[in-house]
Amino acid sequence: MTNQTDETNMNEGMVPPPPIHERGLWENCLWAMWRTPLGLIGVATTTISVVLMMIGLALDLMGLVDNPYFAALCYMILPGFMVMGLLVIPLACYIQRKHWLSDSLGAELSDRALCIDLSNPKHRKYMIGFTALTVLNISILVVIGYEGYHFTESPFFCGKLCHQVMDPEYTAYTRSPHAKVRCVECHIGPGVSWFVKSKISGLRQVAAVITDDFSRPIPSPVEHLRPARDTCEECHWPEKFHGKRIKEFISFTNDDQENPERQEIALHIGGRNPKTSEFEGIHWHVSDNVKIEYQPLNRKRTAVGTVKVTRPDGVVEEFTVDNPEIPEGSEEIAAEDLEWRTMDCIDCHNRPTHVYDRLEERVDFGLLSRRIEPTLPGIREDSITVLEKEYASRDEARELMIKTLIELQGERHGNDYVEKNGELLVKAGQYLLETYMNNIWPAMKITWGTYGSHLGHQNADEGYGCWRCHDDEHQTKVGKVIPQDCDLCHDEPE
Ligand code: HEC
Ligand code: HEC
Ligand code: HEC
Ligand code: HEC
Ligand code: HEC
Repeated sequence: MTNQTDETNMNEGMVPPPPIHERGLWENCLWAMWRTPLGLIGVATTTISVVLMMIGLALDLMGLVDNPYFAALCYMILPGFMVMGLLVIPLACYIQRKHWLSDSLGAELSDRALCIDLSNPKHRKYMIGFTALTVLNISILVVIGYEGYHFTESPFFCGKLCHQVMDPEYTAYTRSPHAKVRCVECHIGPGVSWFVKSKISGLRQVAAVITDDFSRPIPSPVEHLRPARDTCEECHWPEKFHGKRIKEFISFTNDDQENPERQEIALHIGGRNPKTSEFEGIHWHVSDNVKIEYQPLNRKRTAVGTVKVTRPDGVVEEFTVDNPEIPEGSEEIAAEDLEWRTMDCIDCHNRPTHVYDRLEERVDFGLLSRRIEPTLPGIREDSITVLEKEYASRDEARELMIKTLIELQGERHGNDYVEKNGELLVKAGQYLLETYMNNIWPAMKITWGTYGSHLGHQNADEGYGCWRCHDDEHQTKVGKVIPQDCDLCHDEPE
């Protein structure tokens, strides 16, 4: 009966006065949903977001689009708009109601409370419509929320969305033993509280990327990484007895590119020995009944101050060091700010998955696998020169590396030689370029040795590895040292 008046008024293109006398407050509120600009924006935003989300979800589930930005739009941005739209609608109703209350009809209106009368068929219709829409909206949000949750937990999201920032970690990760372990299993782990913490810190990181306010390179160690007890140990068992493991190191020299030097060592990895049920060897550090704490002297933890060992019988030993050497390039921690850190897997396995190569090792591997032809004289030295050279960007490296290698070889042996061996030189150049691409990101200031490994002592000069403590200089009051005996950690294989 009132529709008639509404429509005629609408046709005149102005917001009509509400037919308040004939309708209840309830209807008048809904009326605002369609007839006020704000209400219309709310309805339109919700409807458009839902339609786009459904299309996006269908495309994603069919695997037709494989792009992190697309997924972010679908699972993060559009649901945001949908919820915003849903919030705007009641707001529009509320504002409109207040508006009416404030004019002359107000007194009359304020007598009528907002009531739902299910015996009124019109109210019933509204209620059914409202409930159906609510159920639909909630179902959509649950489905999208579920997909969105999986998306934000995927390496794709972590590694690809912030492309420039995470590219190095992602690239290193995809060629590591943990390439199939999701980022979140080491960086967040199970449980609600870390989940919430990670989402909050994630938001901060997004803000940092948007405002371009982050460190290059991303500092390591990660200061608030979850203790390895809760992450690594979800899959690895510290008690597992690994015994000895033979490892072979193969290297060449510039003088002999063809006959490798082979060094075999038997690493005493240990664990809990099933024969004695005691912890032994290298994994003694993570025994369940021994606690090792230490005070890092710099942010990189490449200089170690006092080391404290608490043994099963409660005996505590402290190893201190006079005049510790602090490697350059990392912020020193002032004496009053020193903190104890409990040693866990990460203090040795600091690069379980973001594994960066060492330059000479890669060149030697190239020679061994003959991707760098060892019979080309001087190729080892020239390869190292090419890799050590600084390029302004990865694109520049792509352009110049192969050319530079050929030039260097040309200077050595002349043009005839280059022509004769062109194919081999290009092949070697391609291998070097690939190596470079796996390791160097000038834009993130990541170059050779930026992220050293603590496993062993090959980067001991820069303060990495076991010799931070095992230096024969950390000692107790009675002169017992943390030993550097070569046979403590490895010996010659039998
Ligand atoms: C096997 C466990 C593991 C997985 C899987 C993993 N990380 Fe890490 N990540 C680590 C550890 C351990 C460190 C810290 C090393 C330290 O504190 O010295 C680290 C450090 C980082 C850092 C700091 C910079 C650096 O290289 O030290 C970033 C950034 C990072 N990870 C991103 C990622 C992303 C993105 C993924 C998934 C594509 C991922 N991580 C997967 C274990 C892991
Ligand atoms: C979700 C399970 C999972 C988590 C979490 C995990 N790992 Fe692993 N890790 C694996 C699997 C699977 C392998 C075996 C890969 C293979 O043999 O190719 C492995 C292999 C390793 C290896 C041997 C690598 C090699 O060179 O052969 C080390 C060391 C290791 N993990 C350390 C860690 C550390 C440290 C952490 C915590 C930062 C960690 N892992 C977290 C599953 C996991
Ligand atoms: C004191 C240093 C240190 C600590 C602490 C440590 N590891 Fe290791 N771990 C090593 C070394 C060294 C190796 C041998 C590495 C190699 O093969 O090059 C090793 C090897 C391993 C391997 C591979 C074993 C194999 O047979 O190939 C796994 C898996 C592993 N560690 C897991 C862990 C986990 C999980 C923790 C924490 C509970 C841990 N480690 C703590 C030093 C350590
Ligand atoms: C934070 C200091 C620290 C670091 C880093 C460290 N260790 Fe130790 N390590 C100790 C201490 C302390 C002892 C006990 C010395 C003692 O009481 O004789 C020890 C003992 C050992 C032992 C003898 C265990 C036994 O059976 O009694 C081995 C083997 C060992 N470390 C290997 C390693 C290796 C390999 C690394 C590097 C991957 C390493 N450590 C890194 C502090 C450290
Ligand atoms: C605290 C434990 C520890 C001590 C002490 C130690 N090493 Fe090692 N060493 C290691 C570990 C762990 C590796 C394996 C590194 C890896 O897997 O990349 C290693 C690897 C090596 C390698 C092969 C890699 C390379 O650098 O070419 C040589 C050679 C070596 N050690 C020599 C020695 C000598 C010589 C001594 C005595 C001065 C010694 N080590 C003392 C832990 C130790």
